Parts: sequence; structure tokens; C-alpha cells
Amino acid sequence: MTPEEFRKQGHAIVDWIADYRRDVAKFPVMARTEPGDIRRALPGSAPDQPESFADIMRDLDSVIMPGVSHWQHPSFFGYFPSNGLPASVLGDFISTGLGVIGLSWQACPALTELEEVVCDWVRQMLGLSDAWSGVIHDTASTNTLVALICARERASGFALSRGGLQGEDRPLIVYASMHAHSSVDKAALLAGFGRDNMPLVPCDEKNAMRADELAKLIETDLRAGNVPCAVVATTGTTTATAIDPIGAIADVAKRFGIWLHVDAAMAGSAMILPECRWMWEGVEGADSLVVNAHKWLGAAFDCSLYYVRDPDHLIRVMSTNPSYLRNSADGAVKNFRDWGLPLGRRFRALKLWMLIREQGIAGLQGRLRRDLENARWFEAQLRAAPEWRVLAPVPLQTICVRHEPAGVSGDDLDAHTQRWAERLNRGGAAYATPAILDGRWMVRVSIGGEQTERAHVEALWKEMQRVVSAG
Ligand SMILES: Cc1ncc(COP(=O)(O)O)c(C=O)c1O
Repeated sequence: MTPEEFRKQGHAIVDWIADYRRDVAKFPVMARTEPGDIRRALPGSAPDQPESFADIMRDLDSVIMPGVSHWQHPSFFGYFPSNGLPASVLGDFISTGLGVIGLSWQACPALTELEEVVCDWVRQMLGLSDAWSGVIHDTASTNTLVALICARERASGFALSRGGLQGEDRPLIVYASMHAHSSVDKAALLAGFGRDNMPLVPCDEKNAMRADELAKLIETDLRAGNVPCAVVATTGTTTATAIDPIGAIADVAKRFGIWLHVDAAMAGSAMILPECRWMWEGVEGADSLVVNAHKWLGAAFDCSLYYVRDPDHLIRVMSTNPSYLRNSADGAVKNFRDWGLPLGRRFRALKLWMLIREQGIAGLQGRLRRDLENARWFEAQLRAAPEWRVLAPVPLQTICVRHEPAGVSGDDLDAHTQRWAERLNRGGAAYATPAILDGRWMVRVSIGGEQTERAHVEALWKEMQRVVSAG
């Protein structure tokens, strides 16, 4: 493709994306294809000869788009908001267009230095002290794995330079609650702790980790000769946005000298609002934390910020430093390859930089406050309506709800919930995620799409009442 052809196709694609964002509400929210439909519509092997871009775009519309679920739809209330605001989409586009890879500072100085600056902007926006240093990785899953590896190495006195975990004579223990995200489980398993060494800390009636129960578990482990290593606490759990008491957990972690990692992947965005910061009060006592800017904040996926108190420890665990990557600037610069798992890194800071500048902190705060108000409005409707039950506190923008008709309970209630959720989601007017809370099915409504206004939440509420009575 020549530069001129690229210009032509590029303009057409920007138009295509702009039209898509303008018209996204016209699509059914979730794809209605059946498993295998898209694969069957595609050739089984790659074309031998070049094809025209017009043909490719035609297939994009006719073959690919029917299989797309529309996360940017204003009536998408599923999983969590993943807002790629247009400014950040353009930043991502530029990052790909530049085609640079940040193997080292010298491999692209601007990549490293913009990342440093933007991580520090976000640190200030979140109300964190300057004792934190940040880096951008792909996802919270990666960052939590990095955190647990760093915790493992601190607790074992750098076992990786000896026999690794296999050389340890006492098991290292990681604590989290049953409401922690599955990525915590995965990280602990991949970091080698082993299922037997990952006890679940009991929660209170608000689904928040109990710090006193954490202390008891640690004491039991110490008596058994085990090595308490790390606790992962969550600000805003996935199912019900429960708020673990970070301050009390930090006190326990400090008392026993274990690592505290805070998973604020979803709720971290809300910390740009001073009125929400009580949710992670005590966070300065943590060792590491993760905030996904690619969720509610508005940076196009993927953009997960990882902050640590002790970057020297992180670097000592993660650095490899082969000769072909060394250069004379090394002593004076950051080499982010030593701050995580991958060597190559994308220029992710661009999309965050463009987002923050184009919106301003005030713009980002205004949107989040709108969503919080919409969630409070919706919660009030549900609480006032007979037979509808809000199942968990609503500190943020996620509402866990169940319709409980008189006389229906147990498995029948589960079947009823699954039926109306299926009707809601198949209808195409809105999407919300069914999930299990306290052993029973319910529906999670996660409010926070860029285009989601009060009218869309009102329409969802009407639709929920309609699908329930239609059964
Ligand atoms: C609390 C929490 N932690 C971690 C994750 C995983 O995020 P990622 O997809 O960036 O790994 C999620 C995603 O839903 C989450 O809600």
C-alpha cells in the first residue's frame, strides 16, 4: 500500500469508525450469531493473491460485523464499562502507525518518557502520594501476576536466584477473598504458590474481606510453620463492587510483614473523584496496586496502570539486562522492560495522554459523576418496586438485582432469573450480565458507557419490567 493509498483508505476507515460510533445504538447490543457462524463464512485458508481493500471492507460489514457485540452501545450494561473514547482511539491509531517498540529507553525515548509523565499525572488524579511509581501494562491480570511474583521474591529472600519455589522448605501463602477476581487465582497459580496455599479469607455481609479473619488465617499459618507471603485486596469486586477495608488490611499486612496488592482494576477510575477516595482509604499502606484505565476511565483497551512503592525491588525481580539491550543512557533513564513481563512494549501512553488532554480532569470527572447519579436513580427505582430486590450495596455504578415473585424460591427462582435475563439479552435492546451471588443467580447491571444517559437507564428499567411480566 502506498502512502497515498493508505491516506485514502485511512480516511475511509476513520469515517467508518465515526459512523459506527454515531449509529451504534441502532444495532442489537449483543451479537446474535450462533457458535461457528462467523468462522464458516470465512475462507479456511489465506488468499494466495492480493485482494482489494474495497473487498476487505465489504466483508468487514457483511461477515464480521454481525458477530460483533457492541460494548460502546449506550444500552450495554454488561461486564464493566470499557470506554474507548474517540481521543484515545486516535492515540492508539497513532501508536500503531508509528510502529515503534519500547525495548529500552533508547529504542524510543518519547515512549518511555511520556509513559512516566502520564503515569504520574494519573497518580495525582487518583490522589496518591508521590511515593508511588507507575508503569503501563496490558491488563490487570498481568499486573497482579507481577505483584505476586514480587511478593514471592520478597518473602523468600530472592529464591529465584537459588532453587526457586521448588527449593523452599516451607510453603508460601497468598490470601484473597472469594470475591477476588479470577485473575488473582490465576496469578497465584502461575506464580507457583499452588492451590493448597491460597486460603480464602471470609467476608462480611457486604461481601468485603474481614481483616480480623485475615489475621486469624495468618496466625494459623504461622503456627503450622508456613510462610504468609501476600494478600490481595479489592477495591470494587467484579460481581458486586464490594469494597475491601484497605486500611485495616494494610495494618494486618504490616503487622505480619506480608505484601499487600490492591486490585482496583474497575473501581480505581472512580478515585479521580475525591468523594470516592474513602473506598481505598489506607491505600498508602499497600505495596502495589492496579487500575485499569481501559475500563470506566475511557482509555481504549489495553491500558492497565501498575503502581509500586519500591521500584528497585520490582526491577531486581524483573530485570534480565542482556548485552544487546544495554546502552550508555541506562544509568540515567527508566527501562520499562525491567518493570514487568514483556520485553517489547506498545506506545500505550499516547492514548491515555490524548484522552486526558482532550477531556481534562473535569470532563472525566463529570462523566463518572453522571454515571454514579444514574446508578443511584436506578437503585431507588428498584428499591421502591415490589418484588425487585437490590442484593448488595451500590457504592459505585454496578447494581446486583433480582426479581423475586411471591412464592418463588430456590432453583425455581434461579430458573426465573435466567429466563428473564435471557429474554432481556436476546431482545437486543439492552444487555446485562447474569451472575451468581451468594449461591443464587441474579443480574448485574453495570452503568457507565460513554453514551449511556439517564434515558438509556430508564429504557432498561422499562425493558426489565416488560421481560419479567412477559414470562
Ligand atoms: C476487579 C477486577 N480485577 C481484575 C480484572 C481483570 O482485568 P483484565 O482484563 O485487565 O485482566 C477485572 C475485570 O473484569 C476486575 O473487575
